[in-house]
Amino acid sequence: MCGIVGYVGPQKAEEVLLSGLTRLEYRGYDSAGVAILTPGGLRLIRRVGKIANLVEAVREAGITGNLGIGHTRWATHGLPTEDNAHPHCDCTERIALVHNGIIENHRELREELALRGHRFRSQTDTEVLVHLVEEHYQGDLVEAVRQAVARAVGAYAIAVIHADHPTVLVAARQGSPLVAAVLPQEAFLASDVPALLPYARRFCFLEDGEVAQLRPGELRVWDRQGRPKQPVFREVPWDPLSAEKAGFRHFMEKEIHEQPRAIADTLRSELSTPWEEGLSGLDLSEIEHVYLVACGTSYHAAMVAEYLWEPLLRLPVTAEIASEFRYKTPALGRRTLVVAISQSGETIDTLVAVRQAKESGAQVIGVVNVVGSAIAREAHAVLYTRAGLEIGVAATKTFTAQIAALALLGLWLARARGLLGEAELRAAKEELSRAPRLVEEVLKLEPKIEGWAQKFYTYPNFLYLGRGVLYPLALEGALKLKEISYIHAEGYAAGEMKHGPIALIHEAMPVVVLYSAQELPHKVIANMQEVRARRGILLVLADAQDPEVQELADHLLLLPPSSRMLLPFTFTPALQLFAYHVARLKGTDVDQPRNLAKTVTVE
Ligand code: M6R
Repeated sequence: MCGIVGYVGPQKAEEVLLSGLTRLEYRGYDSAGVAILTPGGLRLIRRVGKIANLVEAVREAGITGNLGIGHTRWATHGLPTEDNAHPHCDCTERIALVHNGIIENHRELREELALRGHRFRSQTDTEVLVHLVEEHYQGDLVEAVRQAVARAVGAYAIAVIHADHPTVLVAARQGSPLVAAVLPQEAFLASDVPALLPYARRFCFLEDGEVAQLRPGELRVWDRQGRPKQPVFREVPWDPLSAEKAGFRHFMEKEIHEQPRAIADTLRSELSTPWEEGLSGLDLSEIEHVYLVACGTSYHAAMVAEYLWEPLLRLPVTAEIASEFRYKTPALGRRTLVVAISQSGETIDTLVAVRQAKESGAQVIGVVNVVGSAIAREAHAVLYTRAGLEIGVAATKTFTAQIAALALLGLWLARARGLLGEAELRAAKEELSRAPRLVEEVLKLEPKIEGWAQKFYTYPNFLYLGRGVLYPLALEGALKLKEISYIHAEGYAAGEMKHGPIALIHEAMPVVVLYSAQELPHKVIANMQEVRARRGILLVLADAQDPEVQELADHLLLLPPSSRMLLPFTFTPALQLFAYHVARLKGTDVDQPRNLAKTVTVE
């Protein structure tokens, strides 16, 4: 949801900004821009489309300076045009500002500012902020920003520069992420860590309500009331190489292949940072209801956990879409455990659900991939998935890492509730440790899966069916296909097909069936027969040899056999590879599919 970069120091600001924006392009990519302080004053360059267009324009213009801000946009208010692209300038063109978020009271502010003579040049909600800074500016940029954001309702992460302050970068955050890094003679700002990985490893994650001033070698932070705060820096264990493609055609392809390591590291993390310590502040013995809240792919991981946990914990366990959960006013309290799952740790719907759960007295655990992110900070306890940096907008390795972490957490909770003996726990963990090896075996099936993609990439519709724990995996398979290939795909609980989707079946409708000996095999065979009877095309992923399945399937992919807990690790990589190759053959922008953003920080 828009990416921000800021720089002040001896390097060429334009180089740092453009490299940072390229690394943040997954956050939004319909237009981009930079503002650089040059000897001739502030220079603004903005372009519609991808960062590559901006890079070319900046090179052509030949501008250079040591202070600047940049932005890559995911439009919310106003079309993706050059005028609506950030940075935006005040009336004097001496102040420039970039923004990620939504200013909800922008209409009132715009009317008020227009009456006071401010000239607006865009249709964005953002532009009111730069005119507010102009209104309040009396020589102190930090104070002007503080007063400006005090008038704004909504979510924002902003970076502001002023031509009168050549070594100062001011930032503020409320609801949208911002990280700062400081080296002896320079300072950096960005929406997300990957932008700054080539320069720093220690980051200060700004908190809501904070205003920050960055100068070469210095970061000063104030709270909402203007009281100074001591910035806290955290080490992020990702290296810049993880942001390279390492010979793969796309980040998504690379990340699919990184899953064995991501899962192994996640499972190992329980040993390196004992969960007993992390969860010791919680009282889990009296829990009466568990909610798993998340969005998108993380919600599918939550659904997998619902299927795995309920029989283990003997408690009601409910997976909830975070944006719905917030408005359902569920009855929460000390005996409710809320597990918030988020790769980025910044998804606003999930973050607000966390806040609401805390306010209602529930105990909250975050399962998060990005160290130091908002959900990681705000949950009562956090368990990190160790998938490493994920650049592809479509989540892959973080999904299976989430499932690994959740499977482990389920076992751990069952043990804490006295429902699993020490020996059973050990055996289950041993079983889980087979997951990376199973993924490796499935990845070897890639040539056959690619062959399927070659046969089917021109089909306009797909149906995905699964039962039990394979149902959320069917949803995830369909989501992967639609988000990167733009093919319409629907996931369904196989037993529900006869209640509606069966009307879609005809001789040109591919139906991807997930079949396992562990999840109602006979019922799924009956569902396949229903498809067959209507001449649908059956693409079957099966983890068991069955003559009836063999006979029914038009195309059959045999996966390695496993236990119920391990099903996500065999079926998921196959579905991801299928979606990937279909999209690749269609020639879509696999890593940055249209209209999507990696981190959704607007409601
Ligand atoms: O960062 P989060 O896990 O909270 O993100 C949630 C969704 O936005 C995300 O999973 C989205 O659905 C991805 N595009 C899926 O590939």
